[in-house]
Amino acid sequence: MRARIAGTGSCLPKLRVTNDDLGRVMDTSDEWIRSRTGIGARHLAVEETTTSMSVSAARKAMEEAGIQPEELELIIGATVSADHVVPPLSCEVQRELGAVHAAAYDLCAACSGFVFALNTAQAYIRSGMYRKILIIGAETLSKLMDWQDRSTCVLFGDGAGAAVVCADADGGVLAGVQGSDGAKGMVLACAGRPVNHPFASHAADLQYVQMNGQEVYKFAVRTVPMCIDQALLKAGIQPEQVKLFLLHQANLRIIEAVAKRLKQPMEKFPVCLEECGNVSAASVPILLDRVNRDGMLKRGDCIVLAGFGAGLTWGAVVLTW
Ligand code: ACO
Repeated sequence: MRARIAGTGSCLPKLRVTNDDLGRVMDTSDEWIRSRTGIGARHLAVEETTTSMSVSAARKAMEEAGIQPEELELIIGATVSADHVVPPLSCEVQRELGAVHAAAYDLCAACSGFVFALNTAQAYIRSGMYRKILIIGAETLSKLMDWQDRSTCVLFGDGAGAAVVCADADGGVLAGVQGSDGAKGMVLACAGRPVNHPFASHAADLQYVQMNGQEVYKFAVRTVPMCIDQALLKAGIQPEQVKLFLLHQANLRIIEAVAKRLKQPMEKFPVCLEECGNVSAASVPILLDRVNRDGMLKRGDCIVLAGFGAGLTWGAVVLTW
């Protein structure tokens, strides 16, 4: 048995903030952001929460898959920005859906989270432990941004994407790879709460996301083609046989560099960062839902999903639709 994606869904907050909107509240411009990243707009949560966006995305995915909440056996939430430290996002989603028979937990692998969740779902399905799994990538990154730091806050957005993954004898995940390099983790970091109890206190201001953009760029253009190559080799698939490469949406220049290294045309690399910005763990499932709902995938098509980000973490999955 393999893990096959049986339905997808996504949700963006209502508030759409363009680069020009940002230029009215900070020292930046559409020209600077667009030319360096390809980002034109992002959606930011106002009333929405990580849970509410996840639930909306999950309902759409379950509707397409024809799955009732009670049938779900496992929910994996991939996020770095759950609404609470505890309970996990996945448990909040379980409550809202009424998925009473599912186990639920979160997985934290930043922008690679959804790809790690799909690899995890594949492992469960291959082992025979579960047959119907909901995986979610969801973020409210606007909470973690320093809105005084124009070099980071303009890059990110909020949103959620989900997929129902079912055991299937015919198609689905052919191969997956994933990796991490904790030694380089501080190039993209966000500190947690400091120690604060009656016996010790490390006074610290609230910390936000800090990034060495050029180091992240170098890591991404080196590692993403390598892990896609590894996954394709493992699957016995040539790049030419792949219909679409769905990459984490951090930066158009990174995607172009990966396409060039793989010697594949940019038409095979759809993007949604122009509209969504970088939504970390939600980027890949939002893009997947868009290409699915735009009718760009038909049964049997071979696609590659690839994520990379904080940790550092990276991963790729080769699958047939
Ligand atoms: N608007 C206008 N000017 C800005 C802005 C802004 N929003 N942000 C920074 N600048 C200025 C800087 O102050 C600096 O000015 P100076 O030369 O007078 O000091 C100048 O622009 C250049 O700044 P750099 O940080 O060197 O800009 P760079 O060309 O490296 O581009 C970027 C930054 C887009 C982040 C780039 O490094 C990059 O693409 N990195 C890849 C990492 C990435 O995409 N990360 C996203 C999240 S990580 C992930 O998802 C895995």
